[in-house]
Amino acid sequence: MKVTVVGAGAVGASCAEYIAIKNFASEVVVLDIKEGFAEGKAMDLMQTASLNGFDTKIVGSTNDYSKTAGSDIAVITSGIPRKPGMTREELIGINAGIVKTVSENLIKHSPNVILIVVSNPMDTMTYLVHKTTGLPKNRIIGMGGALDSARFKYRLAEALEAPISDVDGMVIGGHSDTGMVPLTAHATRNSVKVSEFLSEERLDQVAADTKVGGATLTKLLGTSAWYAPGAAVSGLVQAIACDQKKMFPCSTLLEGEYGLNDLCIGVPVILGKNGIEKIVEIELSDAEKAKMQESAAGVSKTNGLLEL
Ligand SMILES: NC(=O)c1ccc[n+]([C@@H]2O[C@H](COP(=O)([O-])OP(=O)(O)OC[C@H]3O[C@@H](n4cnc5c(N)ncnc54)[C@H](O)[C@@H]3O)[C@@H](O)[C@H]2O)c1
Repeated sequence: MKVTVVGAGAVGASCAEYIAIKNFASEVVVLDIKEGFAEGKAMDLMQTASLNGFDTKIVGSTNDYSKTAGSDIAVITSGIPRKPGMTREELIGINAGIVKTVSENLIKHSPNVILIVVSNPMDTMTYLVHKTTGLPKNRIIGMGGALDSARFKYRLAEALEAPISDVDGMVIGGHSDTGMVPLTAHATRNSVKVSEFLSEERLDQVAADTKVGGATLTKLLGTSAWYAPGAAVSGLVQAIACDQKKMFPCSTLLEGEYGLNDLCIGVPVILGKNGIEKIVEIELSDAEKAKMQESAAGVSKTNGLLEL
């Protein structure tokens, strides 16, 4: 199992580290355009191997895609992150060009690769990869919902004063401050609906805090977060690499599912060795359907800014 991570920045390096620590891949290639940067990150990470007890080989590359050849999975984190006060959508101009070139280079050297798109605005970048590469839809996966759901569970546990392992919940919809749809009515604490424990107002607050989860961290850190994004990506990579058939909300091309067409947006999917093996259609209330429609309209508007 060979995994490439493009972008050795905050998210790329965190993702490479989690993949290595989980010890399921034989090789992780980290590639960056900045001279020597990926080699440095790879060497630093390799020097944690004996300390953290993993055998995954981590290799750095300055824009040399021949080192990525034969990758089973590639993660695209290259591009600029947002600064405090910015929306993810504002990154489209620079990141679209980067994501297009990077995905083409990856496919040239690994024709069977499964791509995981992380760069923002992620739903639109995932759509761009569909439009420009012609890869089958099961091999193009946008990562956003796995992270947003982890943030949702963090906020739910905080409100419930319960351990996070007691809590389950999912965020679907667009990966944006306004587009996320935290499914509060479906969230549970040990299979009991969280509405049994929390008032409607408190649940609304949990949903609101979840939606601005990324912006809250960007304000604190001065740039976008990396530990939880890296961990979320590594979870998707592991589900594919180990054919786990795990369900995550991921951005995928919809062709009528959830009444939506011709866009990539977060919905629950089953991940296994073929990438997205199934889109899971869950029953939504009228209010949830309306939020999903509104979210989709936002994503489509951003897609309209692409020069395809
Ligand atoms: N989808 C999500 O949930 C999620 C979460 C966090 C961050 N992000 C996004 O991920 C991206 C990366 O964030 P970050 O914090 O790691 O940024 P960063 O600036 O720390 O790292 C980005 C790296 O990409 C490299 N790069 C730029 N152009 C490249 C190219 N053409 N080829 C190879 N490498 C190139 C840069 O040199 C840099 O090292 C941003 O767009 C950010 O918004 C997405």
